Amino acid sequence: MKILGICGSVRDGSFNRGLLRAAQEEAPAGVELEIYNLGEIQAYNADVEKVEAPASVTAFKEAIAAADAMLIACPEYNGSFTGVLKNALDWASRPASTQPFSGKPAALVGASGGPSGTARAQAAILPVLMALGVIVMPKPGMMVRNSASLFDENVNLTDQDTRDRLRDQVGALVAFAKKINS
Ligand SMILES: Cc1cc2nc3c(=O)[nH]c(=O)nc-3n(C[C@H](O)[C@H](O)[C@H](O)COP(=O)(O)O)c2cc1C
Repeated sequence: MKILGICGSVRDGSFNRGLLRAAQEEAPAGVELEIYNLGEIQAYNADVEKVEAPASVTAFKEAIAAADAMLIACPEYNGSFTGVLKNALDWASRPASTQPFSGKPAALVGASGGPSGTARAQAAILPVLMALGVIVMPKPGMMVRNSASLFDENVNLTDQDTRDRLRDQVGALVAFAKKINS
């Protein structure tokens, strides 16, 4: 099974990318988790789309289409999910005839520096994913708060409880994706 890990942060020291790296390490045997970099995707512009979609957008759409499931790890910015991720989803949703999201299983995780653990970001992305036809796994859910204390200086997840919860979340996504895709 192939899972596409999508990180809503493009900064080098991203805790959310750190979560996805830990998810790679905790994924069950036979599950390949690729971490996608959204940093190459420019701001959405319908004029650009009319001429030709950028190669970075086509590559993102192909990566989603090739995946059996998505694991989305996104920070919370001002009570919502990030513009970087929304922009990438908007690009990939166009044109509707080739959008790769419909029926695709996905799970949400998120790490924030504060106490919210990305609860508001995860709530905010749900209607967007619904509009795209993504089938979001309802449980168990994974919110990570006070991230700085859970990762080392190289952004490796060092907290065992968080690792255990992440392993459960990835395992649940694998089972969910098998059910949805069968
Ligand atoms: C523009 C901006 C807005 C933010 N708003 C929130 C917020 O509403 N809630 C929160 O918990 N953290 C907020 N933060 C903190 C980020 O969630 C935190 O820095 C997080 O670690 C960023 O994710 P990353 O480590 O994956 O890059 C904000 C950060 C920025 C840059």
